[in-house]
Amino acid sequence: MCGIVGYIGKFNALEAVIEGLKKLEYRGYDSAGVAYKKENDIKICKEKGRVIDLEKCIMDIDSSLAIGHTRWATHGEPNQRNAHPHSSMTGRFVIVHNGIVENYQKLKFEYLNDYSFSSETDTEIIADLIEYFSNTLSVEESIRKTMSLIEGSYACLIIDKKHPNHIYCMKDKSPLLVGKGKDGISFSSDITGLIDYAEEYMPLEDKTFGIIDAEDVYLQDMIGLPIENRFQKMAIQKEEIDKQTFDHFMLKEIYEQPMMIRNLIHHYFSGEEVRISPKLIHHIRQSDKINFVACGSSMYASYFAKYYFEKLCGIPCEVFCASELVYSTPLISKRPFFIFFSQSGETADLLAVMKKVKKQKHPILTITNTIESSMVRLSDYHLNIYAGKEIAVASTKAYTAMLVTSTILARAVSKTKTNLKNNLKAVSLAMEKVLENKEVCRGIAQSIINQEDLFYIGRGIDYWTALEASLKLKEIAYIHTEAFSSGELKHGPIALITKNTPVIAIITQEGTNRITRSNLAETESRGAKTYVIASKSLSTPSDDVIIPNVAHYLSPLVSVLVVQLIAYYAAVFKQNDVDKPKNLAKSVTVE
Ligand code: F6R
Repeated sequence: MCGIVGYIGKFNALEAVIEGLKKLEYRGYDSAGVAYKKENDIKICKEKGRVIDLEKCIMDIDSSLAIGHTRWATHGEPNQRNAHPHSSMTGRFVIVHNGIVENYQKLKFEYLNDYSFSSETDTEIIADLIEYFSNTLSVEESIRKTMSLIEGSYACLIIDKKHPNHIYCMKDKSPLLVGKGKDGISFSSDITGLIDYAEEYMPLEDKTFGIIDAEDVYLQDMIGLPIENRFQKMAIQKEEIDKQTFDHFMLKEIYEQPMMIRNLIHHYFSGEEVRISPKLIHHIRQSDKINFVACGSSMYASYFAKYYFEKLCGIPCEVFCASELVYSTPLISKRPFFIFFSQSGETADLLAVMKKVKKQKHPILTITNTIESSMVRLSDYHLNIYAGKEIAVASTKAYTAMLVTSTILARAVSKTKTNLKNNLKAVSLAMEKVLENKEVCRGIAQSIINQEDLFYIGRGIDYWTALEASLKLKEIAYIHTEAFSSGELKHGPIALITKNTPVIAIITQEGTNRITRSNLAETESRGAKTYVIASKSLSTPSDDVIIPNVAHYLSPLVSVLVVQLIAYYAAVFKQNDVDKPKNLAKSVTVE
């Protein structure tokens, strides 16, 4: 979602900000803009479209201070007028904002009756409020006063034309990191935007206000008391955000999965023993129910976690969709344990639930790819899924890494010994075999691209893979796809089958092989064009994709690569923007 960057220091700030915005492009956006210092004045340039379009209007300009923004429209359509930066009415304050001011109509009514507005955004009123209060208060007090009035979320960088050698920042609920390098201070919504300009970084806590010059960062809380700077060494390499020889980040990330499994083994195993904090293991063992909370692909990954914990540890589990849970009050057991799954660690729906759970003092573990994230800071425990930066909007390696991390954790919590380490090594080899056979997936992709609707089916754990398969195809190939438990077809969805409707069955479990095939045959009798993805030991010669056998409970880690590749190639055939699909954002920082 929206990305903000800023730089103040000895390098050309415009260059630093444009590079930072390019690194944040993967988050998803529809317009972009910058504000920069030029001869003691502040200039603004913004465009609907890509960062590259913006670059043209600021070519060859040198500046020591700049802020920039990529906007994912929430209030007001994506156009040049609504793009950030926004200025206060007199032009004194210039601002970029990530988040939503939920009470902006009320604030407008209460304080800004004499103001005229030049955009439809909620952001503009932040600049106006600061200006309004600055008639009687100092800049610092005006910003803190504005913070105290906003309901919703914000990460903002602000320039005051009267003090053009500073950047001010304010943050609540939306992510904001400050980076420090030898030659200046930089800002970004996530750590990737700081690469090249920062040696150390510091994620800002909620309700933080800051004044930054080229030398240092001065942070305060809402009443102006100083907050100590806690910089940490940058923990990301530039290679992680480089496509290398792949056409798309998504393909690169699909290919990284076998290696990622080996990395996870390396991080979490010492010999045959799992290395996870005994305190965490003990805490989970004490619980009478595990509640998993997640969204999208991460939620589908948590279905597997439920399965592993119930099978291996005998602890009842429930999966909650965060955006639903936040507005409901389910019955909570006596000793609950909460596990949140999130690639980004910044998903607004999850943060909203987490804050409620924290208030009730229930223990929280976050399983994430982003250890510098807000969710990690709010949790009692966290586990890194070690997937490396995921740039493509559609999740692939983070999803499989969540499955692997949760099996490892379940194995550690359970007192039963399994041959998990060797079984995971076998998965990594099986994944490589699937990648060698990618042409088969490409062929299937080609045959479905002109279809309006497609159905994935499976039972039990294969059904959960079908859910993920269907999401991938919707997201990047824009094909309407549904996943059904194959047993449910006869209870309604089979009415949708017409001549040549593609139905793809996923079959990796012996117990459900026969019945899923017979459900598939029922769709074929009604005209469907059917495909089968099956584990070798369950396959028949007419199956379309045969995947190597692995331990049955790990086979979804292999079958999911097939459906990722089908979605990828379908998107490529349709000439879609694979890594940045329309309307989607990588980090969903608004509810
Ligand atoms: C799908 C996808 C999304 C995310 C969801 C949650 O490919 O990436 O469905 O899984 O938005 O995001 P995180 O895991 O960052 O909380």
